[in-house]
Parts: sequence; C-alpha cells; structure tokens
Amino acid sequence: MKADISTKIAGVKFDACIFNTSGPADVTLAELEIIARSKSPAITMKSCTLEPRAGNPEPRYADLEYGSINSMGLPNLGYKAYIEFAAVLKRKYKKPIIASICGMTLEDDIIMFNAFNNSQVDIIEFNPGSPNTIGKAIVGYDAKEMDRLLKAVSKVCKKPWGIKLPPYFDLVHFDEIAKVIKKYPVNFVTCINSLGNGLAIDPATEQPLIKPKGGLGGIGGRYAKFTALANVRRFYELFDRKIQVIGVGGVYSGTDAFEFILAGASAVQIGTAFLQKGPGIFNKVQTELQTLMAKKGYIKLSNFRGKLKIL
Ligand code: DHB
Repeated sequence: MKADISTKIAGVKFDACIFNTSGPADVTLAELEIIARSKSPAITMKSCTLEPRAGNPEPRYADLEYGSINSMGLPNLGYKAYIEFAAVLKRKYKKPIIASICGMTLEDDIIMFNAFNNSQVDIIEFNPGSPNTIGKAIVGYDAKEMDRLLKAVSKVCKKPWGIKLPPYFDLVHFDEIAKVIKKYPVNFVTCINSLGNGLAIDPATEQPLIKPKGGLGGIGGRYAKFTALANVRRFYELFDRKIQVIGVGGVYSGTDAFEFILAGASAVQIGTAFLQKGPGIFNKVQTELQTLMAKKGYIKLSNFRGKLKIL
C-alpha cells in the first residue's frame, strides 16, 4: 500500500505535503496553470504588491553548482491580477490556492489583506521582507517592526495565514521572533526565504553572475538546506505544535523532504529545484518520499513528523 503523504495546513487539506514555494515561475496565469496541472497539491502564487512591478534589471537569476542566486526585485502583476487568477484557478483545478502578500508599506499590506479576504484564495502567506527589494530592509530581522506589522495584519486578515521567514542563525533571534509571532493568531511559518545577499562570481569574465545590487542576491537550493532544517527544527520546538512549520530550502529528493518532516515540517515547498528540473519534480519528490516511508514502515506523516532522534 502507498504511504499517505497528505497533510493539513491551517486546517486546509492538501492531498500531498510537497508543493511549490512562492517565487519561481509563478508570476503569470500561464505559469500558474503549469503548477496547477502538475502534482503540486496546491498552487502558491508570486509575492504581490499593490502596483505591478517590472522588478530588477536582468540578468537577475543564475543557476549555481548546488543551487541558485536571484535578485528578481518582486516582478509581479499587482495584487488585483492574483485575485482574478485565483478565481480562474479555483474553477478549473480545485486545488488550494496560496497568495503571497509582500507590500512595500504596512498601508499596502492592509489594502491587500482586505481585498484577499473576499477572494478564492484559501491561505495567505505574508512575506514581510524580500531580501532583494532595493532600499528595503529584511523585516524578519527587526522584531519590533515585525510586531507592528503582525499586529495590524492580524486585525484585518480573515483567511488562514502564515508568515514566510528569513533564515536565522543566532539562537537568541529565534527566541525573539517566536515570542513576537506567538502574540498573534498565526497558523504557520514558512522557513526559510533565501539566504540573503550572497555573491556569485564568474572568474572568466571577472563579473558577478547577476546585475542588481552589484551582484548580491538571495541564495537558494542545496546551499540553503541545512540552515532551513535548523530553522524548521527550532521553530517546531518553540511553537510547541500550536503554530505549524512549513519547510523550504534545497529539496530535490524524497530524502530531503523526509528530513524536513523529521525536523518538524507539516509540509515542504520546492523552489530552486522546480525551476531547474521543471514541474515533474513534485511527482518525483512525492514518489521518492512514499518509497522511503514504505521502506521504513511509516504509513503516514504523523508516524515520524518532528520525531528527530536524540544522538
Ligand atoms: C523576491 C525574492 C524573495 O526572496 C522574496 O521573498 C520576495 C521577492 C524577489 O526578488 O522577487
């Protein structure tokens, strides 16, 4: 018998626990329909802003040996387009739809959260800080600012919602940000956004691989996996099962996904590997996870979720 890899996020049923993360190839309706037709059990849309944005100058994405670097700069069609896309996608595909909100100001966030309340979107992922928006800080590193945003957003949002977090490296910072998040009715956190502001260099041309910000960009893929696992684990422990954790960072295989669930993830998103391998990655990772579970005698995720053994 095939292992059951279904999950629930914020009370919403997902037929499988592996789906796309916000960011890669999810800006246009055509791109979103590719995700809809794939084995991704949900459709996560690109982080949106109040107004459409062209994003940063190109080249703004590059593959690396073990992952990727990007400084896209939030290219998106503006939130109204994603409300329309959600209606179309819901009618045609019946999968849970996740909107990602990344306003340039709190005022923008409030307008968008209000608008998405009356949409076909099932879940909202609040992304309070892209590492690539020129002139804007990564909000997740500022606990006071996070508190201000979460306080306001939680008053407005009527959908199940969670927060996309940047990677943390200092144990003190995990405690600090978890304390803020616990004050509000947050259903989940997604760990982690890309490792902010890396620099990839082409030694032949002696230039950076991407143009924006002098070459600095968010690092994703295998480089991110161990930091992502640690962030999932730490927040899983700190939230004591009251707030779910979604893992993302360097998932290419069923074994990668298994490790995230063992660390405490209720679901796992795929970013760089989706861009590099195409939409077949969702089926591949899901099937490999089921095979690994069968080998270990696990029939459902709760058999091992969070149950990382002590050494
Ligand atoms: C972008 C990158 C991110 O990591 C993010 O969270 C939002 C937007 C971007 O550059 O488009």
